[in-house]
Amino acid sequence: MSYPSTSSQWVLESFAGSSGLKLQQNVPLPAMGPNDVVLKVYAASLNSRDNQITNNKYISEPSLPVVPMSDCAGTIIATGTYVKRFQVGSRCATTFHRKWLSGRLTAISQASQLGAKEDGVLRQYIVLHEDELVALPSSLSFAEASTLPCAALTAWNALFCGSRSCKPGDVVLVQGSGGVSLFAIQFARAVGAAVIATTRDLGGEREEKLKALGASTVLSYRDEDWGSQVKAATGGPGADFIIEVSGSGNQTSKAVAFNGQIAVIGGLGGGGSAIFDMRVTPAELRRIFTGSREQFEEMNRAIEVNGIRPVVDSKVWRFEEAREAFDHAATGKMWGKVVIQVAEE
Ligand SMILES: NC(=O)c1ccc[n+]([C@@H]2O[C@H](COP(=O)([O-])OP(=O)(O)OC[C@H]3O[C@@H](n4cnc5c(N)ncnc54)[C@H](OP(=O)(O)O)[C@@H]3O)[C@@H](O)[C@H]2O)c1
Repeated sequence: MSYPSTSSQWVLESFAGSSGLKLQQNVPLPAMGPNDVVLKVYAASLNSRDNQITNNKYISEPSLPVVPMSDCAGTIIATGTYVKRFQVGSRCATTFHRKWLSGRLTAISQASQLGAKEDGVLRQYIVLHEDELVALPSSLSFAEASTLPCAALTAWNALFCGSRSCKPGDVVLVQGSGGVSLFAIQFARAVGAAVIATTRDLGGEREEKLKALGASTVLSYRDEDWGSQVKAATGGPGADFIIEVSGSGNQTSKAVAFNGQIAVIGGLGGGGSAIFDMRVTPAELRRIFTGSREQFEEMNRAIEVNGIRPVVDSKVWRFEEAREAFDHAATGKMWGKVVIQVAEE
């Protein structure tokens, strides 16, 4: 089966933000093994993590040089002799943790992340084991589907893969209007849960957009007592699920309902050492690391059945503009996911 022998790729050579990224041409593709496929990448999507990596602020130190980014969607253009899951023409996305197929995350699968210590997806072609991909929801474009492996799956795991699932009538609190939070709003609304959102932009355009996406109440996370405001907005009990992306432990502890779940996800507020005071309210803390391939496949079915369309920022960047895309994502001014189009659809 013939496929290109070389690929263009971006490589992070130094921890200098987007300036550390260099474009390389004609990099030889490794040989395809019997269980491997060659993925032609059409779109790749940025996460907050990708700018943390270029600045060496990620939770674990990346290896240099490394091809950045974890999330992409494309088409399989060649398959090894034993490949069973896909065929030429299958539309697929990468999995964030290549080796986390199902069950619990282990140290080995945690170490199999794309775009940190292992080469990631910001390249034209990738050779991967067939187990490391999932089929796309047929309803999505490549740009939309490229947003799923990290942000969407994290929101999905937080809402549906803990000791109990989010259900109609629950109250979900999302913090800020980043990628994870927007997916959480869409998933929560799809099952009939109510959403309270926080943003820096109370009274502005982001509040309007959060409401248009399904938030019934929008608060400012810049108010010191937003946790109490969440409780008040629910008439007293608080939020059943909290998408904790800020690292704001004290307010989150105030906002959570009895027996609620706090999904500990990120540190946008400069957190990383948040302390959740659990003395007053019995609630559950869950540390989330994206999700497994099995959870990804369940999520894709739900996306398809519910007609969910990922929110993609209004400007999609060209492959050659990758540095500008990283810089734009770092501003936090995008609405939805920042996507780089690697090849024309
Ligand atoms: N554990 C995991 O598996 C996992 C997976 C994905 C992401 N994460 C982490 O989760 C966080 C969110 O990731 P993301 O990709 O969704 O980020 P993102 O898309 O880059 O988020 C940008 C948005 O963050 C919001 N924000 C900024 N400071 C905030 C604060 N102090 N409190 C609440 N919101 C704030 C802003 O919303 P407004 O403009 O509305 O203010 C901004 O638009 C990051 O820390 C990331 O590293 C973890």
